[in-house]
Amino acid sequence: VNTLLCQAPQNINKDYLKFFTEHEMNDLRKRYPQLTILQNNQTQLIFSKIRNKDTPTAEFRHHADRIMRLLIETALNEQEIQVIKRETPCSHYDSSELKNPTEFVAVTIMRAGNSFLHELLRIMPDIDVGQILLQRDETTKEKKPILYYTKLPKRIQGRKVLLFDPMIATGGSVIKGIEELIKVGVKEQDITFVNLIGCEKGIKKVLDLYPKIKIITGSVDPLLLEDSKYIAPGLGDFGDRYFGTN
Ligand code: PRP
Ligand code: URA
Repeated sequence: VNTLLCQAPQNINKDYLKFFTEHEMNDLRKRYPQLTILQNNQTQLIFSKIRNKDTPTAEFRHHADRIMRLLIETALNEQEIQVIKRETPCSHYDSSELKNPTEFVAVTIMRAGNSFLHELLRIMPDIDVGQILLQRDETTKEKKPILYYTKLPKRIQGRKVLLFDPMIATGGSVIKGIEELIKVGVKEQDITFVNLIGCEKGIKKVLDLYPKIKIITGSVDPLLLEDSKYIAPGLGDFGDRYFGTN
């Protein structure tokens, strides 16, 4: 059983939190082979913009879209491909293509998950899109999500689902989203969850419950704040910052 790398929030100085080191990140990758952490200098530069509390809405959206595009491309990189003979204007070549491009379905966890649609629909303009509306109940300490609405493509059974939500804090929202998918016959191993920032505790909870899903994330942050259940360092409330409701 995996224990948390970041064990004791109360012993940590919350005024200045260090990210996991490269060594610790590699440890996480080993513990969770289903987890892809997209991290390089370029993503670090983009994350630094959106984490900054003073970044205004337009700039936040611009940089969040950049990283979301990279995450979507990384999720596609994890899918099966096939090689088909095609022609350039000059010769034949082996063309690498997604095995079943029409078998992909996107599902967003609203509201914040809808922010992925801007880039997703440019990359895959014909993809079917389902939506699950969830909201954390901010009045309780548990921050359990409330399910308001689910609308999924009718023919979803047996298809590959790209599930989108930018934040994994307690893990409650994505777990509820996965439950909704499994209820309608989606197989756990056919779910790829695309995420911007997850905290270690939430990611562990999701993968302990659903070890066959894949998670693509841009960052694993060390802490889940005890009272607010916000991720730290994190970036605050993603939906509010992206949609300008903060
Ligand atoms: C945010 C976020 C996730 C959830 C993560 O949504 O987009 O869905 O919180 O937290 P959890 O892992 O503890 O469940 P929120 O409910 O704030 O609604 P929003 O999409 O309107 O911002
Ligand atoms: N939802 C967010 O948008 N941010 C967090 O840190 C936690 C939940």
